[in-house]
Amino acid sequence: MNLPLKFPGLAEALATASPQFINLYDDTLPSSSGSAGGAADEIAEGLLAEAATVSPKFFYNELGSKLFEAITGLDEYYPTRTEAGIFEASHAHFTRALASAGITQPCLIDLGAGNCAKAMSLIPHLQPRQYVPIDISVDFLRDAAEQVQNSFPALDIVGLGMDFSAGLVLPDQVQTHDRVFFYPGSSLGNFHPGQALEFLQHIADPAQGKARGLLLGIDLVKSTELLEAAYDDALGVTGAFNKNLLLNVNELLESDFDVRQWRHVALFNAAQSRIEMHLEAECDLTVRWPGHERRFAAGERIHTECSYKYTVESMTALLQQAGFSQVEYWTDPKSWFAVFWATV
Ligand code: AVI
Repeated sequence: MNLPLKFPGLAEALATASPQFINLYDDTLPSSSGSAGGAADEIAEGLLAEAATVSPKFFYNELGSKLFEAITGLDEYYPTRTEAGIFEASHAHFTRALASAGITQPCLIDLGAGNCAKAMSLIPHLQPRQYVPIDISVDFLRDAAEQVQNSFPALDIVGLGMDFSAGLVLPDQVQTHDRVFFYPGSSLGNFHPGQALEFLQHIADPAQGKARGLLLGIDLVKSTELLEAAYDDALGVTGAFNKNLLLNVNELLESDFDVRQWRHVALFNAAQSRIEMHLEAECDLTVRWPGHERRFAAGERIHTECSYKYTVESMTALLQQAGFSQVEYWTDPKSWFAVFWATV
């Protein structure tokens, strides 16, 4: 291909572009002779608790990431398209907000990037110097980062396979100035409020660099009917997403869950302002894995996810408590979802 001379270097960039990828996540620590490590230990501890739990991070094996992608296209699951509408309507405001925070060469750090679709819609407007997508679903992210690189061949991309719920320590390859943390999709809502505060404090910490900001998507409180439909869709995709966690657990723990013995449950707990997802045993059953077993009576549940819903006031207060002094936000016409821009 002969490119015009007025674009020096472009031909080379197109020919060689590929993202750097650093995998800092290891979920495959073996469970040999009954003693498991890492992810397996964490899962076993949750399953053996009186009220059984499994962390929602175990939704995201390769199939789980694909099922989540399918959820985002469902009629009932309004958050993704509502947030996209806010991005579309407000990107000029974001660009101005970055400039007034003195951020000129943004490093866009995409927390829980998944298929990177949300960042892709913003990159042409924010013009980052570096893009850092981070996700626990390592192979899925690797493919997605390559697609971003194909769309933006000259962009410096550093993909990170990482479980940042355990702490966000970024490697030296990530630029230290002008960091913009991008946390869309209301994923912060999957933390309990105390953990969410700790996480936000960590982002606000001066150790994250001088000029820094946070672009955060948050789902807002609304009617129980709308909320529960979003987490229990008619096609059963969210049910499959929830049950697939058991397949991932089987792989990581060498357990023998039979997904056909479990029912998907989603309910809004108004007192705690959160959607809860559970898996409920359809009959009395026993699950076994090396060295252990757990009996479940019919109707007993495994708590798999909380998705907290905030008001603009409660999220503004949380951001301020975390150390962000400037907070502004944009919502959609129905006030179902909000995008916050917070700077220290
Ligand atoms: C990733 N996270 C913000 C989603 C949510 O809405 O809490 C995960 C999800 N769970 C069920 N549907 C979607």
